[in-house]
Amino acid sequence: MSSQHAVIIGGSSGIGLATAAHLLEKGYRVTITGRDEAKLRAAQNLSGDVATIVMDAADVTGLAGIFQTIGPFDHLVLALGGGNGGGPFATVDLADLKKGFEQKTMAHFACAQACLPYLSKEGSITFVSAVSAQAALPGTAGLAAVNAAIAALAPVLAVELKPIRVNCVSPGVVDTPWWDFLGEEQKAPAFAGFAARTPVGRVGRPREIAEAIAFLISNGFTSGHTLICDGGIRLGQ
Ligand SMILES: NC(=O)c1ccc[n+]([C@@H]2O[C@H](COP(=O)([O-])OP(=O)(O)OC[C@H]3O[C@@H](n4cnc5c(N)ncnc54)[C@H](OP(=O)(O)O)[C@@H]3O)[C@@H](O)[C@H]2O)c1
Repeated sequence: MSSQHAVIIGGSSGIGLATAAHLLEKGYRVTITGRDEAKLRAAQNLSGDVATIVMDAADVTGLAGIFQTIGPFDHLVLALGGGNGGGPFATVDLADLKKGFEQKTMAHFACAQACLPYLSKEGSITFVSAVSAQAALPGTAGLAAVNAAIAALAPVLAVELKPIRVNCVSPGVVDTPWWDFLGEEQKAPAFAGFAARTPVGRVGRPREIAEAIAFLISNGFTSGHTLICDGGIRLGQ
């Protein structure tokens, strides 16, 4: 069992919440953060050594104080991000795309920077990007740009921040509240369409991405890597 401390930014829902549950099962101490206090309270049902902090990672000026409050820790997981910047390239709303960069790329970048005084040199940073960065999916140019910028950080930081290990997970379509904007009626056919284009024949489960993140955290010889966990949808069947 591990007694290491993992901080999950965006840990109150979906992939981050599943990662918290998985790491707690493995004996990690876990701190989860998010903007919505009610969501964080609900996540406290997790069993194990879990703490919660309300914070907006896109409010980059507040991050130094947040990490000072958290204190020394071992692993940073960046699982936050919304869906701003999606849509057909010709008509994508540029203000929405800018928000996408602010809410995901900048927030990931700034959290990784602000945590450094407190992050163990034997520890790790794991970014959660998205397979839009690797797959050529029409309608995802903005999301691809937002997420490819994050994936680009892993190899650079793996060298610049050595011996801290820096990796990235690139999920395919995963059934999380991220998709709630579709509403229940649209979600089922959308997932059926994604499943048909995915070699494993279904969308992903948050737990499967959590397992990929846990591997990158715990494997001491993996750094600068992007682990694509997408059921093969990037292959464009
Ligand atoms: N689900 C998918 O199919 C999929 C596929 C590829 C990549 N991803 C990526 O995986 C990551 C996690 O997505 P998910 O599916 O788990 O979504 P989710 O269920 O909506 O969870 C997002 C988490 O991030 C938090 N969050 C969002 N903005 C934040 C901010 N500014 N500051 C602090 N916390 C913030 C949310 O809590 P609050 O709202 O309370 O802040 C929540 O805990 C995202 O970056 C997403 O782009 C998801």
